[in-house]
Amino acid sequence: MRVVLGITGGIAAYKAAEVARSLMERGVAVQAVMTAGAQEFVRPLTFAALTGRKVITDMFGSGGADETLASSVEHIRVAQENDLLLVAPATADVLAKFAHGLADDFLSTLYLAFTGPVAIAPAMNTNMWRHPATQANLEILRKRGHVIVDPGDGLLACGTSGPGRLAEPEAIVAVVDQMLHPRRDLEGETILITAGPTQEPLDPVRYVSNRSSGKMGFSLAEAAAARGAQVVLVSGPVHLEDPVGVSVERVRTAREMYDAVMAHLPESTIIVKSAAVADYYRADLPKQKVKKTATLLSLELQPTPDILAEAGRRKGDRLLVGFAAETENLLEEARRKMTTKNCDMVVANLVSQAGIGFETDENEVTLVLRSGEAIPLKRASKRHIADQIFDQIAKLRLAAHASR
Ligand code: CTP
Repeated sequence: MRVVLGITGGIAAYKAAEVARSLMERGVAVQAVMTAGAQEFVRPLTFAALTGRKVITDMFGSGGADETLASSVEHIRVAQENDLLLVAPATADVLAKFAHGLADDFLSTLYLAFTGPVAIAPAMNTNMWRHPATQANLEILRKRGHVIVDPGDGLLACGTSGPGRLAEPEAIVAVVDQMLHPRRDLEGETILITAGPTQEPLDPVRYVSNRSSGKMGFSLAEAAAARGAQVVLVSGPVHLEDPVGVSVERVRTAREMYDAVMAHLPESTIIVKSAAVADYYRADLPKQKVKKTATLLSLELQPTPDILAEAGRRKGDRLLVGFAAETENLLEEARRKMTTKNCDMVVANLVSQAGIGFETDENEVTLVLRSGEAIPLKRASKRHIADQIFDQIAKLRLAAHASR
């Protein structure tokens, strides 16, 4: 397999060296292409040494250095010879060029000539990332079928904190690896996934809910669909777009989620309940807005139906995966939920740590199996964690088929 690694000008350019090294270790031949901006941060020699190939640094070879390999049709040859184009780090500028078809240097020209799969790992300042222009360009690239390896949250080189930090090299390589060797190990499975919070109304204008963003469940749905499964995603209120190739049903309350899950349960072979379902709801819902008074207000709340526990009762030979969102006694609680809700696996999620769990792009979980085994997964993007969860699910499925 051959990959073009496009490196553009950002402080994270040095991390592309780790990406190149890791791809080479996996037996992937890497052709590095550096923009002029990238060369301000890292010398081409670094990539030449790592990849064992000359680095392409410009369109017409005007650099004239030994490290430069260029001719007027070089971009066509490179486009034809490679299986995948990866850009890491990708600046806001290169996203804009790709989105609008500008071709004023080797990388942007190669992009237009390239017909294979494209993966893009952006890195930039948080405000630049959030800018509507950048988001609109990302949208165009996603719609074109390119895979965007979302940046992580954290302290950026510019001193601010927020989304924009290049995804970890390991996560980028995992995405590329999957694109080069698409796994179809979930073909034939019908997977029901729940995501997000639920909202329980208190009156016509207020509700109780929780901090779940739905990102973990949406990543699970995306990963399962990419691996060939039919996926039904039942989601509470979240601000996320439907994943490609997934049938999405949006609900609001725990009761609505319960009804949707029970309706889809019969045809499902695997159920993954990542939703953070509200545990209580207000049964005596007032028709009018509750008015403020000077006295204390107490509300009587009733327990919501436990969807996972009911799925556990009706499970048959389906594979049932629950989540345990905890702030303490993580494994103990996960094991308790596994037994009380009749799960085959529980994804134990510590939600009290900054940077992982609720509202973030990254997660760090432990997979607890019925055998008692606990498999810790290192902190990574939710998309990467989703794939590792399905790696384990695929193994459990194989074992279940073998014992039948
Ligand atoms: N769950 C569910 N229905 C509920 C509550 C939870 O299906 N009414 C599911 C969640 O989707 C998750 C698992 O149960 O897969 C565990 O949820 P969690 O909130 O961690 O636990 P609870 O059962 O609510 O227990 P506790 O509040 O004691 O932690």
